[in-house]
Amino acid sequence: MNQYPDSISSKLPNLGTSIFAVMTKMAEEHKAINLSQGFPDFEVSPALIDAVCLHMREGRNQYAPMPGILRLREAISANTKSVYDAVYDPEKEITITPGATQAIYAAITAFVREEDEVIVFEPAYDSYVPAIRLNGATPISYKLNPPDFHIDWEQVRHLVSNRTKMIIINSPHNPTGSVLNNEDMVELERIVNNTGIIVLSDEVYEHIIFDEHRHVSVCNYPALAQRSFVVFSFGKTFHATGWKTGYCMAPENLMREFRKTHQFMVFCTNTPVQHALADFLSDPANLKGLGAFYQKKRDFFLDAVSGSRFTGIPASGTYFQLLNYENISELDEMEFASWLVKEHKIAAVPVSAFYSKTINNRMLRFCFAKSEETLKKAADILCSI
Ligand SMILES: Cc1ncc(COP(=O)(O)O)c(C=O)c1O
Repeated sequence: MNQYPDSISSKLPNLGTSIFAVMTKMAEEHKAINLSQGFPDFEVSPALIDAVCLHMREGRNQYAPMPGILRLREAISANTKSVYDAVYDPEKEITITPGATQAIYAAITAFVREEDEVIVFEPAYDSYVPAIRLNGATPISYKLNPPDFHIDWEQVRHLVSNRTKMIIINSPHNPTGSVLNNEDMVELERIVNNTGIIVLSDEVYEHIIFDEHRHVSVCNYPALAQRSFVVFSFGKTFHATGWKTGYCMAPENLMREFRKTHQFMVFCTNTPVQHALADFLSDPANLKGLGAFYQKKRDFFLDAVSGSRFTGIPASGTYFQLLNYENISELDEMEFASWLVKEHKIAAVPVSAFYSKTINNRMLRFCFAKSEETLKKAADILCSI
């Protein structure tokens, strides 16, 4: 085919293929166990699948209203009240989105301008920085360090300038599995008080949290909530990442602007899936037990690799476990991940891929949202290295 004649001026010149696509392709080529990409290898609830089929058969197959079907927004509002004791108006403050990623992009695009800076904690979910850059703004990264990847808010204060438009937080955190606590929220609140800074809080793993930890949501902090977008994903909560359905909540004045962007990015989200989720959410039992379910998998995986030379601090949340390989190799993370997939048939993600600067903590991220059989096979291999 003839090519576009001029030399292309890329808006994201330094961005290659996503690490997840790279590792998944390598996993397929080498017939490896794929613990790289973050999705479950077990099925969605049959009742939820039946509900989607039912709504399709009953003819709910055309465009949904732009902010999402009201029944689902009402169910989310009721659920938010019961879980976080926070009130979001389903009409004006909740929008259903095709996944959390689109909600993140829409929130950034609605507010962030060329002259702005956005503070991002790295390692970071891979969509944040490109979304900031595509809007012409500058990401200011705060580097989180092992072993606990905690935030020193005094240092964050030094990154804030009169150009700071947004701070993006993520808890439970992908890829590190760390979680924010009450003191983190109080410190963040102090930093943004009396500024025009908007907070974008990515809480897609809200229910996947372990041990003594409890999820702290910006919804619970009124002074933060009034300036925050909070983003969630049904994909993570109901093992249905391929359905790409999530939602965003924010006070009315912020949500009004969000919807202006959202309507011209996608207009609306898949109709029958929204109806099915509204049915499903109305039964609180469907939200219970997710933390315990994944904690069992985390413990199973950690126990199974305990005899290996890999080491790791148990993840506090998410379905990712970091493992350190410094007892095994001096290779950098990408080289080690490639070696692991080629020589030992296990795909994992180098944590360095979540940083914009070069780092080498000798850590890989393993997804444990897999059957025990898969986790056991993977652990047996890791123990043999
Ligand atoms: C931290 C984080 N945010 C957002 C997303 C995207 O969620 P969705 O699939 O609903 O777009 C992911 C998916 O891996 C994630 O890990």
